[in-house]
Amino acid sequence: MGWLSWERFRCNTDCAQDPANCISERLFVETADSLILGGFQSAGYNYVIIDDCWLAKERDVHGKLQPDPHRFPRGMPAIARYLHERELKFGIYGDIGTKTCGGYPGMAGHLGRDAQTYADWGVDYLKVDGCYADPDSYNKTYPALGAALNATGRPIVYSCSWPAYLPDPVQTGFQIPYEALRRHCNLWRNWVDIQSDWASLKSIIVFWAKASLLSEGFTDVAGPGAFNDPDMLIIGNEGITDDQAALQMGAWAMFAAPLLMGNDVRNLTVAQQAILLNRDVIAINQDPVGHQGALVKCRGSCEEGQIWQRRLYNGDLAVAFFNLNDAATERICVDWNELALGEYTQRKGMEVFTGTVRHNLGGELCEELAGTSIKLWRLAAVDAVKHAAAVF
Ligand code: GLA
Repeated sequence: MGWLSWERFRCNTDCAQDPANCISERLFVETADSLILGGFQSAGYNYVIIDDCWLAKERDVHGKLQPDPHRFPRGMPAIARYLHERELKFGIYGDIGTKTCGGYPGMAGHLGRDAQTYADWGVDYLKVDGCYADPDSYNKTYPALGAALNATGRPIVYSCSWPAYLPDPVQTGFQIPYEALRRHCNLWRNWVDIQSDWASLKSIIVFWAKASLLSEGFTDVAGPGAFNDPDMLIIGNEGITDDQAALQMGAWAMFAAPLLMGNDVRNLTVAQQAILLNRDVIAINQDPVGHQGALVKCRGSCEEGQIWQRRLYNGDLAVAFFNLNDAATERICVDWNELALGEYTQRKGMEVFTGTVRHNLGGELCEELAGTSIKLWRLAAVDAVKHAAAVF
């Protein structure tokens, strides 16, 4: 969990005109302060990650990567120190090819040296993009960089963009190498970049459903230390309603997805904060066994509605209903025997966005959902007192 600069601040390097929002030390220091003051750090959002456009256009005379000297005058160790003193983690961005997607120096030909530079700077998380490289070489380069990071001895979360540049598995049937991803990366971007609008969010959710139907490997690969990544949370940006924001938060919880905000933490509404800080949704997202949710069923080839279930460490089951239709209110039901309820046929449950609690649930669960909205239930076994106590 954490925050990434890309979705909101992009490659804004114009600190003369826009000092508060350009990619510079100030943005990361202010974001760190806001994560702490706004209660985000205590909710678990503790990685502050600098995305593209932090680099100088050239390496230094020794061939080392260096930040833009005007925007990061005190260098990267100073930012690492600022974050570490506050018990936050420091993340940064690089590219496995000859250039980053924004055109800054890439890591190709320098993997060992750059891994050491990041470790020396105190980096805790590295996002490694795949621009300006041949995707056929990823099965060598991404593992080589992973090995180089391990060789530094510093624990660094390794985020790969490897599958995002391979042929689309849903469109082409291409077999994504999930086993290799699990072995070499901690998380990996599966698909196209998210944009801050409903159409983009919906397309990712539809992709997730179709990828789940296509291969068990997609669902089964997830577990502690290895997660599919549907991209940043756009909650807090213009372009989606609060209902759509809740839908993204709940969907990412079902997907066991990284929760990386791509917003301006300094400027969020109360409703947006409540969605991002909802502890019951975060508990589902961060469930320690890390099972990725499974699709129960779809309406309208997964474009209209979806129902998902996710098994949790204590025997509870999370069940989510998505209405992806824009306007229409939909009644969506799931029959009890479509769910992985195990030995317990009766459950009590809580809908985690409204706090509604219902006892003696059984038979079927139906929801009336407004256009583009979610209901997310955490179901606990009625006769398992210790399980119920852990939740309520
Ligand atoms: C790619 C990535 C994005 C972002 C940009 C930066 O498009 O997928 O998440 O890092 O590059 O240029």
